[in-house]
Amino acid sequence: MIIYEDKLTAQEFVDLIEAVGWGKTNLEQIEIALENTIYSVSVEIDGKIIGMGRVIGDGARVFYIQDVVIHPDYQGIGIGTKIMEKLIAYIKKVKLYDCNIMVGLMSAKDKECFYERFGFRKRPNDYQGNGMMLNISK
Ligand SMILES: CC(C)(COP(=O)(O)OP(=O)(O)OC[C@H]1O[C@@H](n2cnc3c(N)ncnc32)[C@H](O)[C@@H]1OP(=O)(O)O)[C@@H](O)C(=O)NCCC(=O)NCCS
Repeated sequence: MIIYEDKLTAQEFVDLIEAVGWGKTNLEQIEIALENTIYSVSVEIDGKIIGMGRVIGDGARVFYIQDVVIHPDYQGIGIGTKIMEKLIAYIKKVKLYDCNIMVGLMSAKDKECFYERFGFRKRPNDYQGNGMMLNISK
């Protein structure tokens, strides 16, 4: 297994998204998205990229973990955990001393338990409201 930092390509991204059934993605859009990504991790096994994850955000105060995806043939063997550990380690490394930061993510349905293992908490809770989102198409 080889773990790459900041080497994820748009085609690899699109292939993984399709492999987990999240539908077709526009290659040009992903190229721009990856250019604007703070940090990415991709995992290769037998010459093929089978996992990815990335960090987006303002690079100082707010970070989001996005697109953690493992090819179905390689799920459940610890690769998602390895990727999450790399993403969180990167955020801790760039975090300024003595400053609070926020690391957010939007969990896919029923994947919350996977992220809770790394300290993420669900919303809403006793102190915080729902996360919210807006989809814009066309
Ligand atoms: C969710 C996903 C990233 C997890 O990656 P993975 O490599 O399969 O997970 P790991 O093998 O590292 O599993 C680590 C632990 O999390 C648990 N886990 C994995 N998927 C889980 C899920 N859906 N719900 C609860 N726990 C889960 C595993 O049981 C394992 O626990 P253990 O160490 O006690 O055995 C991966 O299954 C995936 O890509 N799924 C499809 C795409 C997706 O939904 N991505 C999430 C976007 S928010």
